[in-house]
Amino acid sequence: DVSDAAGRGRPPVLALGVGPRAAQAAARSRPGAAEEQPAPHVAIVTGGAKGIGYQTAKHLARLGMHVIIAGNSESEGQEAVRKIKEETLTGKVCFCIIVNDLTLFCIFSSSFAVEFLYCDLASMKSIRQFVQQFRAKNCPLHVLVNNAGVMLVPERKTEDGFEEHFGLNYLGHFLLTNLLLDTLKQSGTHSHNARIITVSSATHYVGKLHLDDLQSRCSYSPHGAYAQSKLALVLFTYRLQHLLTANGSHVTANVVDPGVVNTELYKHVFWVIKLVKWMTAWLFFKTPEEGASTSIYAAVSPEMEGVGACYLYNEERTKSADVTYDEELQRRLWTESCKMLVTLTV
Ligand SMILES: NC(=O)c1ccc[n+]([C@@H]2O[C@H](COP(=O)([O-])OP(=O)(O)OC[C@H]3O[C@@H](n4cnc5c(N)ncnc54)[C@H](OP(=O)(O)O)[C@@H]3O)[C@@H](O)[C@H]2O)c1
Repeated sequence: DVSDAAGRGRPPVLALGVGPRAAQAAARSRPGAAEEQPAPHVAIVTGGAKGIGYQTAKHLARLGMHVIIAGNSESEGQEAVRKIKEETLTGKVCFCIIVNDLTLFCIFSSSFAVEFLYCDLASMKSIRQFVQQFRAKNCPLHVLVNNAGVMLVPERKTEDGFEEHFGLNYLGHFLLTNLLLDTLKQSGTHSHNARIITVSSATHYVGKLHLDDLQSRCSYSPHGAYAQSKLALVLFTYRLQHLLTANGSHVTANVVDPGVVNTELYKHVFWVIKLVKWMTAWLFFKTPEEGASTSIYAAVSPEMEGVGACYLYNEERTKSADVTYDEELQRRLWTESCKMLVTLTV
């Protein structure tokens, strides 16, 4: 039980590694335990090859999950898989238990399957191919972390002609989630809902949704486009939860703000800001590991079982921008997004 592994009432990041393994090792010691062993929970983390996504993938793997990193660089993805396997395996713990004069040695290693699957979120065709490949595995899906993103890129378009922030950060995840929804619904149960975690940003508070110009064709500002994409992700999550609840699905959707985190996301900012970041990051920025804690909390915490439509910051529920609670806007964005994808010839 992965959510139990996080430790009841404790921050999951503090309870990594040993819990699920201990439970499995204990199960193995009983007769017939092999049949009882639950299959590992399966998680997909987009953009899991670096930054916050990498740390999220690593921690979920340590918790005993089968993690699939979805990313747009085969070499970086495979390197991330190698590092996760190496780092989680070095976390071996050896215990000596004495039961009725019998000394049992148990070694708990903490690495399950981690793998990479190519998925370019700036290409709807690639997203569809990724989902096909995932479906071919015939495995369930318990956790989807919509984490990948770009920030402040110069004006440019995705393969399908969408403005990059909107097309990749928002629309790519919109399509991916919808294509995986059936599997998530089949994998969730009354007591263990499947979970969708979407990474937004505090930038959404200043974002404006231009329903008549979602592609920022009239006027482009990198900051405005990034903020709009992150605002769209919050509206999407609330609408998604509304639809899931209406269907009686055992799937929850929450959105997280990781805080200000020292990652490569800032590679497109003005050089002066880069310099200031370089000098002050140790003081003002979270490490990627700290940045991942709220995503992990949303993915595995028992407190979040069955809870959806939350905006989480520092592992706590927080209010998102007022406009995100506008149900009519949520509905209109959803409809508009469906229309945009239907018009694609992929
Ligand atoms: N860092 C912060 O301060 C901060 C604050 C608020 C929110 N966030 C959000 O947190 C999330 C993770 O960002 P991060 O800070 O960890 O940045 P990061 O280190 O740059 O990670 C972003 C990940 O997304 C991937 N990605 C980019 N384009 C992609 C594409 N077309 N297809 C698939 N994957 C793609 C990147 O891969 P490549 O680099 O190889 O393309 C990378 O693995 C983002 O959604 C970001 O908006 C971050």
